[in-house]
Amino acid sequence: MNLVYDLFVIAHLLGMAAIVGGYGAVYFGSGEARVSEVMVWGARAQIITGIILVGMAESIDSLGKDPDHAKLGVKLVVALAVAAAAEIGRGKAKRGEFVPALTHVAGLLAILNVVVAAAWN
Ligand code: HEM
Repeated sequence: MNLVYDLFVIAHLLGMAAIVGGYGAVYFGSGEARVSEVMVWGARAQIITGIILVGMAESIDSLGKDPDHAKLGVKLVVALAVAAAAEIGRGKAKRGEFVPALTHVAGLLAILNVVVAAAWN
């Protein structure tokens, strides 16, 4: 079961890379801060893999995890805001509307969640 858990941690880290890397690419690459499909999929992946990780950590004793509910609650709220900003920004971009603020909200809040994940002990 450790292996399955570790695979979800890897997927969770790749999802994080998709949002933050995707943000860096649109921000520094094109000079136009449009939400990319990669960011949207990364944001969705974080919520799904994060909830699976919490479910496994809570229910499988042999993993030896003791999740911090306050920290995870904050991460969930931030992740939902990231996904909302990314989905709305992408939807508008597809209709030719360009709202850079939504891209920045999604990218910067994702970075905030990395800080929460790493620094909240
Ligand atoms: C934008 C959204 C998110 C980002 C960028 C993010 C980022 C990260 C990062 C970088 C780690 C590794 C930290 C470390 O091992 O020290 C991590 C771990 C973790 N995250 Fe997230 N996360 C996000 C959303 C979520 C959500 C919504 C949940 C669940 C409610 C969640 C649950 C977890 C759990 C349980 C771990 C611990 C894995 C372990 O056992 O080491 N994350 N997250």
